[in-house]
Amino acid sequence: MVKICCIGAGYVGGPTMAVIALKCPSIEVAVVDISVPRISAWNSDQLPIYEPGLDEVVKQCRGKNLFFSTDVEKHVFEADIVFVSVNTPTKTRGLGAGKAADLTYWESAARMIADVSKSDKIVVEKSTVPVKTAEAIEKILTHNSKGINYQILSNPEFLAEGTAIKDLFNPDRVLIGGRQSPEGLKAIQALKDVYAHWVPEENIITTNLWSAELSKLAANAFLAQRISSVNAMSALCEATGADVTEVSYAVGKDTRIGPKFLNASVGFGGSCFQKDILNLVYICECNGLPEVAEYWKQVIKVNDYQKSRFVNRIVSSMFNTVANKKVAILGFAFKKDTGDTRETPAIDVCKGLLGDKAQLSIYDPQVTEDQIQRDLSMNKFDWDHPLHLQPMSPTTVKKVHTVWDAYEATKDAHAVCILTEWDEFKTLDFQRIYDQMQKPAFVFDGRNVVDGNKLRDIGFIVYAIGKPLDAWLKDMPAVA
Ligand code: NAD
Ligand code: UDX
Repeated sequence: MVKICCIGAGYVGGPTMAVIALKCPSIEVAVVDISVPRISAWNSDQLPIYEPGLDEVVKQCRGKNLFFSTDVEKHVFEADIVFVSVNTPTKTRGLGAGKAADLTYWESAARMIADVSKSDKIVVEKSTVPVKTAEAIEKILTHNSKGINYQILSNPEFLAEGTAIKDLFNPDRVLIGGRQSPEGLKAIQALKDVYAHWVPEENIITTNLWSAELSKLAANAFLAQRISSVNAMSALCEATGADVTEVSYAVGKDTRIGPKFLNASVGFGGSCFQKDILNLVYICECNGLPEVAEYWKQVIKVNDYQKSRFVNRIVSSMFNTVANKKVAILGFAFKKDTGDTRETPAIDVCKGLLGDKAQLSIYDPQVTEDQIQRDLSMNKFDWDHPLHLQPMSPTTVKKVHTVWDAYEATKDAHAVCILTEWDEFKTLDFQRIYDQMQKPAFVFDGRNVVDGNKLRDIGFIVYAIGKPLDAWLKDMPAVA
């Protein structure tokens, strides 16, 4: 029986390995992590992440050929294939701080593999890493190899949160990069055989190591660039009376462009896009390509601009101050169908409003009060560096309330901000909400999920990203 071990039981390691276990009953899969609470949660009925369809997959395989454990060394020792799916956050200190990937967790995993291994292993980069990381990993492993043969493969993950199981069942492609030597090609084939249990052969792409590593950063940069492009257009739409939904539709009808990923929003979030583009920028700078670095940096700048533009619009519309006004925040996760808040635009929007002394009442169907308070107390990039976490600031505690119901959040509020596109927000009773709000009552739709005209008929003043402005908003132009 082939044995797989995955180091890192997070948003990628957990779902990916669960699907491998489901699709490959002949393979034994162990997912290991240094975090005891995370592993306990994977072994319980309350999985550590919310992901549609994940519970069913885990329930079918757990205890049969899928195991979650903190005994990292034992499972690495036993495995033929070791996936490394640890976090690779942005460095917050030292050389490259604010841009470069922090490979501390990766390096410590690699050193541990070198320490405990007694047989040949295929080591698979599942984490998103800077191009050329495999070379560094090879050095760490072979310097301590004790005669063991390691083959390093790059097999980046393309799943998106909220649709992880669907994406894993039916991936657009699986990418495997490896050394082009006979041993490297043999390792590529071994990993290909795993995916071939359910992925059609033509969807499994094999490349050299550096192409695979770079393709992951490139794919995320291209995806994020589309959002920043449409968001940049949304600002121009507001200035001219064009409607960004109509523009996106017309643009996306061009088969060379395509209709997906053209939804204007308050900004993209999530643990990947910003981190990976900053990493790409850093790699370009290190390779003497400042113009290329500058090009990609602009994707992040437009994203930051979009978030601050949204906050400015709220404040300027409400007579230039939100001090002591209750603002209801509907949605805190970075997208629907996940409880993940990493780099969610809601953090910057809430911090912006708190900066203007607003009182926030936040409702998200999947995000806990603790998580929200932590997110609003943290410095940029600190979320993935547990050692840097600050205690909650007393101001945040006082000004932010988390509630478990959209109607509770909007009671006596001056404004409603929709920051995540949860389906349930589309069917809220906005008449009821209007009746219990202060007047004038505002809706700021950061995800274009509600019908602005219906809301205007009720009496709301409505702002929606990239849509023609109400007369009220035109009279109170936001300063970008
Ligand atoms: P995560 O933070 O959810 O999970 C990483 C896990 O690794 C944590 O549970 C942590 O405790 C564990 N870990 C860290 N060091 C360890 C060590 N030495 N030994 C054992 N466990 C260790 O991160 P994630 O979202 O799963 O992302 C993992 C990687 O995959 C990152 O490089 C990310 O960029 C990439 N990625 C993420 C997504 C996504 O949607 N989240 C998608 C594609 C790729
Ligand atoms: C992304 C990539 O899509 C995935 O391939 C990669 O493996 C990890 O990073 P993820 O961050 O989980 O996945 O979600 P994604 O669907 O890409 O959304 C990212 C952000 O962009 C979210 O905040 C989302 O709301 C926003 N977005 C997405 C838009 O604002 N407009 C769009 O049209 C699409």
